[in-house]
Amino acid sequence: MSLEELLATRLLVQGNSGSGKSHLLRRLIEQSAHAVQQVVIDPEGDFASLAQVFGHVVVDAAAQSENGMRQIASRTRQSRVSVVVTLENLDTERQMRHAGAFLNGLFDIDREFWTPILVVVDEAQLFAPAVAGEVSDDARKASLEAMTNLMCRGRKRGLAGIIATQRLAKLAKNVAAEASNFLMGRTFLDIDMQRAADLLGIDRRQAEVFRDLERGRFVGLGPALSRRPVTIAIGEVKTHSHAGGAKLLPLPEMTREEAKGLLFQSNAPQTPRYVPEQALGTEALLETLDHAPAVVVPLLAAAEPRPDLAAGSEPEFRAPEPPPALPEANQGGGIEAVLDQLFGEEGAIGRSVSSLYDEFLARCRTRRLSGRVLDIVHFRRKLVLAQAGITASIAALAGWDLAQAQANALDEQFQGLFLHLAAAALQELPCPSDAMIAQACGSHSQRRALGVLTRMQQMGVVEIYEELNGQRVVVLPGLQWRTAPGHTSDPLAWSG
Ligand SMILES: Nc1ncnc2c1ncn2[C@@H]1O[C@H](COP(=O)(O)OP(=O)(O)O)[C@@H](O)[C@H]1O
Ligand SMILES: [Mg+2]
Repeated sequence: MSLEELLATRLLVQGNSGSGKSHLLRRLIEQSAHAVQQVVIDPEGDFASLAQVFGHVVVDAAAQSENGMRQIASRTRQSRVSVVVTLENLDTERQMRHAGAFLNGLFDIDREFWTPILVVVDEAQLFAPAVAGEVSDDARKASLEAMTNLMCRGRKRGLAGIIATQRLAKLAKNVAAEASNFLMGRTFLDIDMQRAADLLGIDRRQAEVFRDLERGRFVGLGPALSRRPVTIAIGEVKTHSHAGGAKLLPLPEMTREEAKGLLFQSNAPQTPRYVPEQALGTEALLETLDHAPAVVVPLLAAAEPRPDLAAGSEPEFRAPEPPPALPEANQGGGIEAVLDQLFGEEGAIGRSVSSLYDEFLARCRTRRLSGRVLDIVHFRRKLVLAQAGITASIAALAGWDLAQAQANALDEQFQGLFLHLAAAALQELPCPSDAMIAQACGSHSQRRALGVLTRMQQMGVVEIYEELNGQRVVVLPGLQWRTAPGHTSDPLAWSG
């Protein structure tokens, strides 16, 4: 890459989450750190580690006022010190205001300080969103204007904008339009692919190649890169992101009683930090598995077997043998009845999973059922499904297994709400009301549940739109499903 050319132009990086954008930015920053002043706008606190090796000064935005941010930005230009602006401890609105103030501080500076500076913005759609979101209008205007200044009018002042985004369709068009260098990584959604093709001036069918890119590979084009599209593999980096990839980590071995003691006893000894001997990969983990057929309690009796496993031509990993029949013919049915009753009770919402599980075991005992055939993990899954209103008939709908698979990949706290929204979308029903959202989260507090929804929005798991009449629509981009518009406070809204 020609750094001089880059300083005279701008660069846009796009690729779905996990495609390797932040790694790419890190590589670029590390490789050019000795040659040019740098500012990194870092919403996730990923880049602070640059400080240890390359001497960047970390600016923790949460400790500054907006005015403070503006002043630090001017001093950054005057002193030509490289900085990482960490925004991770701020809510979305303050992230926008603080980043906007900092960028404006870089921009509004006397001509004598117009020296070249790389301004790297990760997750740029947060600061230049294409549509209005939950944040107030003036916060959005402030940060959008600052991003527009950076990308459209910054060059004369020495600002070379480098922005990365996971969804082109979510980034304000005017901010993307000024880039003349592009690095396009793995992209799944048609709408992003089309925007990418339009930006690059290539045929939409050609953009299909972005679908098959591996992590860490990008198609590059532009004056600082290449006159024709080339595929580039991004090399190693010296510093590391604190986020890191997901690794499998064995759990400490202890009995249930020991675990309870550790959590609840007031005089429990300080637990030593658990250091696993070795983190196992998936392959290694599979080898350690006991091959005896496990007693698997199907999540939902009516769920259809996956056709690819049933009819598959030698699948690599075979589905376990069907579970042996339970001792008593109607034991499974009895357990289902206990669950239905328990989950249907008024007080079930908001109670902890473990206390509900204890209650479940107790009720099974009084009916002479062995509740233990359902372990707490499967019990929790059933609870999540019940709270989310996922009945056997919904689970049997075509396409539901896709929703379930995506939910399984999410953190536990998001699964219930995700499933609830997916069920509404799949059935083309209105977007659930706030009250239903709270119930799907297993919470009494609508505020807390809406917080969960907002976090899902920030992670890109859902997109939320408001219709002109105030109704809400939720889009699940990973499934390309959307709900019908629904009132946020309609007590008659779909209740699963
Ligand atoms: N070129 C690469 N070489 C090695 N590891 C990579 C490469 N690109 C990404 N990774 C790893 O993949 C994971 C996801 O990359 P990241 O840059 O965080 O993705 P994104 O910012 O697009 O969501 C990280 O753990 C990162 O270290
Ligand atoms: Mg990233």
